[in-house]
Amino acid sequence: MKRDINQQGELQIAGVRAQELADLYGTPLYVYNVERIRENARAFIDTFNTYGVNAQVAYASKAFSSIAMLQVAKQEGLSLDVVSQGELHTALEAGFPRDKIHMHGNNKSVQELEMAIDSNIGCVVVDNFFEIHLLSQLLHEKNKHMDVLLRVTPGIEAHTHDYILTGQEDSKFGFDLSSGQAEKAFQQIAIEDRLHLKGLHCHIGSQIFETSGFTMATRKLFQTMAFWRENHGFIAEVLNLGGGFGIQYTKEDDPLDLNEYAHALITEVKKQSSELQYPMPEIWIEPGRAIVGDAGTSLYTVGSIKHIPQVRTYISVDGGMTDNIRPALYQAKYEAVLANKMHESIEQTYAVAGKCCESGDMLIWDVELPKVEHHDLLAMFSTGAYGYAMANNYNRFQKAAVVFVEQGRHQIVVRREDYREMTRLDCTYDYGEGNLI
Ligand code: LLP
Repeated sequence: MKRDINQQGELQIAGVRAQELADLYGTPLYVYNVERIRENARAFIDTFNTYGVNAQVAYASKAFSSIAMLQVAKQEGLSLDVVSQGELHTALEAGFPRDKIHMHGNNKSVQELEMAIDSNIGCVVVDNFFEIHLLSQLLHEKNKHMDVLLRVTPGIEAHTHDYILTGQEDSKFGFDLSSGQAEKAFQQIAIEDRLHLKGLHCHIGSQIFETSGFTMATRKLFQTMAFWRENHGFIAEVLNLGGGFGIQYTKEDDPLDLNEYAHALITEVKKQSSELQYPMPEIWIEPGRAIVGDAGTSLYTVGSIKHIPQVRTYISVDGGMTDNIRPALYQAKYEAVLANKMHESIEQTYAVAGKCCESGDMLIWDVELPKVEHHDLLAMFSTGAYGYAMANNYNRFQKAAVVFVEQGRHQIVVRREDYREMTRLDCTYDYGEGNLI
């Protein structure tokens, strides 16, 4: 992967020295190259536009939600997928166009649905029978209507390099197609006069490297749409094929090609719609990782170094599973460099450890680096998706700050948490012996 390196052998991000950012804002630090976020968003929108189809690219904000990020998503003309009140709140704070927001979730609360209704968002992706009932009840009370998509599980489960077909989809999300659940859900929505069914949704998985799972899902959804047209006279306006576009984290990954993906999807939709003489639906997709993943770099300062002869050398950094839980949770692999020694030759393989009290808190097990010394600056690439989004306070470590960089300029967009903020929700306990305060 091509890196931006200055003449002094230092890593730069969007024209700014990584070391300068680390000195200014401290480490661990999430740095986003905003130029890359924009390129990714434009690539999705433009690629779908070249096919002359009606398409909507909704950014799955679970990958990285912050006011600044959603401002950029809004500027780039993306729509938005939110899954909670918190994500919706962030979108509203960012001034995101409400009609371009849709809400997901397998257990939406009354409060979440009320907020969705009160904020006049574009649509709700209904996921289960309880929700259909609850949503229509709330809409009745508020004398409002809502566009909905019906989420179905097409019996295709995609894994990174592969997908499997399951007759009966075992998933907590959506309505099963094979057992007739989706049909029942359709009928229930049809009698709810407050709900307007716009179409179908499915999401077959994340970090997918092949197009076949998407095309197979498209075929399955069209079969259902054709059935509903014949039996209920229903025509879907929207076909939402979810997210899942796989990106490159390391040299071993063979990422999906955007053109190939769009071509496969659109060709299949056109083919199905012509074979079945079904009006072309609008195609919606929901990429999360592919919009922000490779735009993010995590910066860490190296602290302790532990060499175990004939075993390995651990270098410990000032972050870990609190700012990036993906290696511990999914054995996710990343690449890293010493940002201050880009011109130095590789010396040996190191293991990068986090600082949490947990042996599994390893960021990378094997990475080749120049000779590592205390205070070196380690840059870990492609950490923009599900890094900050899944950050936590284990061991009461502070959440790291987020900086946006664009054309040589940088700005803090999420402040580093401080210790007072960490205890801001704590209350002292008074029922012990005497007054504990
Ligand atoms: N739409 C729906 C309904 C989803 O459930 C997801 C992700 C997306 C879109 C966006 O998928 P993407 O394009 O980012 O693959 N924490 C995991 C990923 C979980 C994804 C959950 N759903 C990770 O760090 O790999």
